[in-house]
Amino acid sequence: MCGIIARIGHGDATETLLSGLENLEYRGYDSAGIAVQNGDGVKVRKCSGEVDQLKTSVEPRLHGNMGIGHTRWSTHGPPTDANAHPHTDTVGDVAVVHNGVIDNYDELRAELQAAGHEFESDTDSEVIPHLIDEYRDRHGDTERAVRETVETLEGSYAIAAIVDGEERVYAARKGSPLVLGLDDEEWFLASDVPAFLDHTDEVIYLEDGDLVVLEPDSYQITDLAGSPVERPVDTVDWDPEDAGKGEYDHYMLKEIHTQPTALSNTIEGRVEDGDVAFEDLPAGTFSDVDTVQFVACGTSYHAAMYGAQLLRSAGVRTDVVRASEYASKTGPVDDATLVVAVTQSGETADTLDAVRKATDRGARSLAVTNVVGSTAAREADDAVYIRAGPEVGVAATKTFSSQAVTLALLSQRIAADVPEAAAAADRETMLEDLTDLPEHVETVLETTDAEGIAREFHDSDSYFFIGNGLGHPVALEGALKFKEITYEHAEGFAAGELKHGPLALVTDETPVFAVATSGDDEKTKTNAIEAQTRGAPIVAVCPDDHPLVDVAEVHLSIPDTHPVWAGLLANVQLQLVSYHAADLLERPIDKPRNLAKSVTVE
Ligand code: F6R
Repeated sequence: MCGIIARIGHGDATETLLSGLENLEYRGYDSAGIAVQNGDGVKVRKCSGEVDQLKTSVEPRLHGNMGIGHTRWSTHGPPTDANAHPHTDTVGDVAVVHNGVIDNYDELRAELQAAGHEFESDTDSEVIPHLIDEYRDRHGDTERAVRETVETLEGSYAIAAIVDGEERVYAARKGSPLVLGLDDEEWFLASDVPAFLDHTDEVIYLEDGDLVVLEPDSYQITDLAGSPVERPVDTVDWDPEDAGKGEYDHYMLKEIHTQPTALSNTIEGRVEDGDVAFEDLPAGTFSDVDTVQFVACGTSYHAAMYGAQLLRSAGVRTDVVRASEYASKTGPVDDATLVVAVTQSGETADTLDAVRKATDRGARSLAVTNVVGSTAAREADDAVYIRAGPEVGVAATKTFSSQAVTLALLSQRIAADVPEAAAAADRETMLEDLTDLPEHVETVLETTDAEGIAREFHDSDSYFFIGNGLGHPVALEGALKFKEITYEHAEGFAAGELKHGPLALVTDETPVFAVATSGDDEKTKTNAIEAQTRGAPIVAVCPDDHPLVDVAEVHLSIPDTHPVWAGLLANVQLQLVSYHAADLLERPIDKPRNLAKSVTVE
């Protein structure tokens, strides 16, 4: 939700800022802008639209060895040129980029206007450069002015600022991510590592309350009181190539195709001698847990449903709650509750808020995330990484698969500690089959006819996805992916629910994708027939020997494997159907309208 970048060093900053913004576009693509400083004042270029549009508007070229940049997902004010960041103070001496939401901007704006400041945008962010300017005038000291500014702000922010005549970048964070990148010749600040991964993998994850001053040859981190703070330097193990599109037309397609590698990384070292092992969660870690609550949003919620079902069937009291509804939907919470935050980015505001609410009531917390150093990972008592590698496409694909596998393994790890729980009866086969999962995904990718099926049904009225048991979250995820990137109407249902209402919508223009695994009874087949009787074409997404194949018009085959993993193979088929349907419709697949990858507002 908005991406920010800053760079200071020797040599020109403009190209680095622009390419950094391109790598951050998954965080928002409503508008973009940069500001550079080169001894000739602060120069700003910004516009509504994507970074590509900004690039053309940066001619004639801006030059400067330091600068800041922003790519926006609108919260306050529509995506106009004026609302694009960077914002400046009245005379244009101070330029600021901001990610987050300033809750008290109305009153601050009124006070600043009364003091003679002129505003040009509808955004909450614009108060920040004006405040810095105001305090700078008062104290004649920019660092003090930035400190006082962040003390005045209520809400969440990651900000970076440059000031005319100063060879410095100022930055601060509270509630929005900010990471410092350390290279030999230059320093970076960004909302996320991919912004500067081409330059360096040495990073410092900043904490709330940190204030940073970067100069070409040094950096300094202090707390809000001005005392120096030490933060560890981490090395990111993501390859810059992981963050690029490679030979693929879209990040989404690349990310679908890299699932075999992602899954191998997810599994590595976690199945040993027929048992499940998590390095930082030894036996006994969960022996005082009697209830597990999963909290998550969107695709991660579907992965959480997957994990919750497995944990519940192992006999552990389990709940799964949409994070945005946590306040109203949660059951009792105490110190025997484990709240598991499932979040790819580790930055989703609703999920973080739910975890905080649970921990305030005594729960212990565990983050299941893809991003090392993310807020969820840092705030939770424990963190488990899904190791999927960077995911840039806004529609989550490989992270769903890696989350579901991690949660399936985690459910075994937790059940082993909880006294009244029991390991899955066929656990040995399940774990054996897991080692074949990357290969099975490869088979799906090589043999799929998803493109043909997308073409065959591409002008339908509506698309239904059904499944029961573990097929249910897969059906929900199939529908979410489809609507998200095709903009066509799609809904997912528990298969047995069709007859309780949705069947009224079924016609010969509503293809029904029915997900089934070898572990199913014949319910899904029965429900598919009920829809077929009303004219719906059925696409069976299941192993070749499943009875559903005999009734379906079309079949998307999945390799035969343990039922726990079969749903994930079905999901890969559905990812491909969505991708090809969106491609036929010429949708902007990696950047669907109105969405952003990391949703850091509630
Ligand atoms: C859909 C999608 C979203 C995210 C959701 C949660 O393709 O990506 O539904 O799953 O916004 O994001 P994380 O996992 O980062 O908490």
